[in-house]
Amino acid sequence: MTHPVETKPLSAAACPPLKGRVRVPGDKSISHRSLMFGAVTIGETAIEGLLEAEDVLGTAAAMQALGATVTRLGEGRWRVAGLGVGGLLEPSSVLDFGNAGTGSRLTMGLVGGHNIAATFVGDASLSRRPMGRILDPLRRMGVDVIARAGDRLPLTLKGPETLVPITYRVPMASAQVKSAVLLAGLNAPGVTTVVEPVATRDHTERMLEGFGASIEVTVNEAGERIIRLQGRPDLKPQSVTVPGDPSSAAFAVVAGLIVPGSDVTVENVLLNPLRTGLFTTLLEMGADLTIENERVSGGERIGDVHVRAGRLKGVAVPAERAPSMIDEYPILSVAAAFAEGTTVMDGLEELRVKESDRLSAVAFGLAANGVTVEEGKASLSVTGGAKRIGGGTVPTHLDHRIAMSFLVLGLAGQEPVTVDDIAPIATSFPNFLELLQGLGAEFAVPKAA
Ligand code: S3P
Repeated sequence: MTHPVETKPLSAAACPPLKGRVRVPGDKSISHRSLMFGAVTIGETAIEGLLEAEDVLGTAAAMQALGATVTRLGEGRWRVAGLGVGGLLEPSSVLDFGNAGTGSRLTMGLVGGHNIAATFVGDASLSRRPMGRILDPLRRMGVDVIARAGDRLPLTLKGPETLVPITYRVPMASAQVKSAVLLAGLNAPGVTTVVEPVATRDHTERMLEGFGASIEVTVNEAGERIIRLQGRPDLKPQSVTVPGDPSSAAFAVVAGLIVPGSDVTVENVLLNPLRTGLFTTLLEMGADLTIENERVSGGERIGDVHVRAGRLKGVAVPAERAPSMIDEYPILSVAAAFAEGTTVMDGLEELRVKESDRLSAVAFGLAANGVTVEEGKASLSVTGGAKRIGGGTVPTHLDHRIAMSFLVLGLAGQEPVTVDDIAPIATSFPNFLELLQGLGAEFAVPKAA
C-alpha cells in the first residue's frame, strides 16, 4: 500500500440546496469481516457490494498473503476461496494495513489463532494507536508477541500450536477487541467466552453464526453480553451482500440537514441498532429525518434515510449511546455547530485513540472556524449559531472522518472551510467528493496550494 507523503488540501464553500438520491459504498465493518471469514472457510464465499477503499483492500491483500485466494470479479463483486479454520499459511512478507485499525486488529486475532508468524505494519496514524488491548488477551491465549514499547506497530505475532480458550471481559467498549478474541477463539479447542459490559457492533457474532459457527449470546443480570464461541467449527461458504455504510451515509445525511433547502435520500443504509446512534440523536435534535423502504436483508435491517434541511436544537447525548455512534461524533459535532443551543457529548474516551485524537481534532477544527466548543477529558460541548462559521484551515491528522466532516462544515458555513489533506478519505469513502458534488456540493483547491 502507498503511504502518501504529498498532502492534498481542499476547500468547501456554501452551496445551493443539496438534492437527490444517492447510495454510499458498502459497510466497512462488514466488508472486512466478509473477507476474513471467507479466508477461514473452505469453499468459495461470494461478496457483493464490498467497500473498495484502501482499508478493505489492505485486508483483501492480507488474506491473500495468508493463503486465501481473493478475486475481484467486478465493481464490489469479490470471491474468497478460503483454507478453513486453522488453515491459514505463514505470509512471506509483512502485512501492511496502512491506516486500518479494524483490518489490522481483527487480523491479529486470526493470525494469533494459527501456528504461524506474521509481522504487522501500518502508516504513521496506525503506528501510534494502542495495540495492547488486542495483544493482552492474545498473550493469555498463548500467542507470542514481539512489539516495541507501548505495544504499537510494527509488531510480530506467532500463534501457539494449540490455543488456550479463555474467558475475556473486554475492558473498554470495543468491537475490535471483542472480534479479535473471537477470531483467535475460532481455532481454540473448546469454548472462548467474551464478556461485553457495554454492547458494541455485533457484526462478528451475526456473521460467524451465518457462516455456521456455534455462537451463543446471552445477557446476564448485570446487563452484560456474554458471547460463547465453540472453537474449530467447519464454516460454510456464504453469499454476503454488504449494505451501505451508515458511517459514510452520515456525511450526506448531515449535509442534507444543514445546507438550507436541501432534500437528500441515502438509499440502502445498514440500520443495525448498534450502528444507528447518530440517527437517533439527530431525531432528538429535531431533524426532519425519516427511514423509508425499511427491509431485512442478509439478517440485517436496512432502509433509505431521507432528510430535509431545517432547524436543529442542541441536546445532551447520553454516554451509553457512544458505542452505537462512535465514528459519528465528528460529523455530529458539525451538525451541532448549526443547531440552536449547546450539544453536550459524553463518554468519549475512545475518541482519543481513533485514526487521530478526534476530541482534540474536532475541537481545534471547530474553534478555527468560529464555532464555540469546549473539549473535556472525555467530552465535547458544541454551541451552535455562531454568526460566521468558516474561514479556517483544519489539520486532518491522517483521519478520513475529520477530513469529510470539516468539508461538510464548509458546505453550510458563511466562509469556506479548508482541510489540509483529503488523501485519507480514500481509506473508507473513495467517491465521497463525487457523491456530494452529484447532490450539488462545491469544492475547490485552495489558491495557496
Ligand atoms: C469497528 C469498531 C470500532 C469502530 C471502527 C470499526 C469494527 O472500533 O470505530 O471504525 O468494525 O469492529 P473500536 O472497536 O476500537 O471501538
